[in-house]
Amino acid sequence: MAVELTPPADSAPAAGPAVRLDLPAIARLRADLAAAHFTQAALDGLWGPDAADALRRNERLPALRALAALRARTGEPGALATLAELFLLGGRVPESEVQAALPQLGADGAIALGLLWPASAELIAPERSLRALLELRPYEFTDSRGHASWWITSDLGELARGGPLGEDHVLGVGGASRTLSALMLQNAVDSALDLGTGCGIQAMHAARHAGRVVATDISQRALELAAFNAALNEIEGVEFRLGSLFEPVAGERFDHVISNPPFVITPRVEGVPSYEYRDGGMVGDALVETVMRDAAAHLTPGGVLQMLGNWEYTAAVPDAFDRLQGWLEPALDYWIVEREVQSATRYAETWIRDGGTRSGTREFDQLFGAWLDDFADRGVTQVGFGYVLLRLSDETPTMARLERLHTPLGDNEWGLGVHLGNCLAAHDWHAAQSDAEFAEACLTVSGDVTEERHYWPGNEDPSELLLRQGGGFARTISPGTALAALVGASDGSLSVGAIAGALAQLLEVDEAELRAELLGGARRLLDDGILLPPEA
Ligand SMILES: C[S@@+](CC[C@H](N)C(=O)[O-])C[C@H]1O[C@@H](n2cnc3c(N)ncnc32)[C@H](O)[C@@H]1O
Repeated sequence: MAVELTPPADSAPAAGPAVRLDLPAIARLRADLAAAHFTQAALDGLWGPDAADALRRNERLPALRALAALRARTGEPGALATLAELFLLGGRVPESEVQAALPQLGADGAIALGLLWPASAELIAPERSLRALLELRPYEFTDSRGHASWWITSDLGELARGGPLGEDHVLGVGGASRTLSALMLQNAVDSALDLGTGCGIQAMHAARHAGRVVATDISQRALELAAFNAALNEIEGVEFRLGSLFEPVAGERFDHVISNPPFVITPRVEGVPSYEYRDGGMVGDALVETVMRDAAAHLTPGGVLQMLGNWEYTAAVPDAFDRLQGWLEPALDYWIVEREVQSATRYAETWIRDGGTRSGTREFDQLFGAWLDDFADRGVTQVGFGYVLLRLSDETPTMARLERLHTPLGDNEWGLGVHLGNCLAAHDWHAAQSDAEFAEACLTVSGDVTEERHYWPGNEDPSELLLRQGGGFARTISPGTALAALVGASDGSLSVGAIAGALAQLLEVDEAELRAELLGGARRLLDDGILLPPEA
């Protein structure tokens, strides 16, 4: 009888790189994943919508039951189910099934890459079983360059680990990652920087529009996984550098800087874990402040930084926007959109749960106390979350936008970034025009804008008139009679000035005053993407 000298169950591999960057082996893995149709749609089809929904809530039992039922029906799991069980659900799988699911790479190849590890307890066993050391998931998106499917490796999540995350955890693609990648501007540039790259997802997106990308992280492990992901998805032109914040790019400037930085506000006391993936080790929102303050020194003229961040509302400075404005270099255009505000209490709960600590436990209450003490000591009442866009102006900055838009986004098929890019271009176009020049322009209404009128019963005149944007931020605007009429008449054939003149006569008001009002209003609607500039 053969005696297998496998390591004891669940013994971890000796410390070393997170994964091996063995390009031929990675190519074999890619071929196996493609052959197994390892896609999100196929996985959802495998276990059905209920189990898919449960997985999003970190509950894997319905998916495991669906796979067990499949095995009972068909007698064998199939490659897709094996890959799902290993890489998404944290299961142990017999080696023969791994071999069947990864025919080109093989079980030993997957172990050598650092993806799998023997997990058998038995010393006398006909075959060993394997488990995943890393998560490996399909990821799909659509941007202005088309639809793409990738596979992303990261550290095992809470679901597969069955417990809280390690402090050096390398995050996979989460909600914040998707938010940032969707709002990324997509116009072609020479250079991009992804600060705090993690699994490399933003750098990979940036490589679609930037000639070269530098991806940095304070975690060597993250950089290894990011390089592996770029190789797995055949993405070239990304350079990975180790170091904190802008240190690895000292003295360098980029056309586009993207960052989903570790912005989570964390109390600096013993016993509170400091997760590398979300916490930059500074007090309060100082990390967001530091990135915003240093941005101008790392942008080319016209270059844009886009990041996500949290900011504190304090008793001393009740409006967080006052603090944000204080962090900005005068040479910057800025457009900061706050998407939500949480009370300090809710914020603490959210992030304690995110680390895998369940409420109702002693650990949870201890952490909760530490968070509330920190907020109380520093007078923090609320925490805002939002999008920051900073642009180094080549002349005098013309854009200073701080907005609270707490409602759902519109429908942005190619991502919000396309809308942001169009708004910036429209802004630059009108900002370069004097009022006299602008009055000569023939504008059009964006195709996603609809008009909504409300009437009191029996009354012919509307009591309220609203413009609703279908895409972008899904803004609803109450423009007033004259500006609504200007929008209605903006079909590209009449100039702003001509419409203003006709309206002044119709409404019997002072023409100069109305013209000034409408020029200002039309400029604001161009900034919001509701009116469009003349086609070049
Ligand atoms: C929230 S994760 C973002 C990961 C990825 N960019 C994304 O969008 O999903 C933040 C990343 O910043 C890294 N990080 C933490 N402190 C850092 C620092 N001081 N300088 C650079 N990166 C840091 C973490 O290791 C982590 O990978």
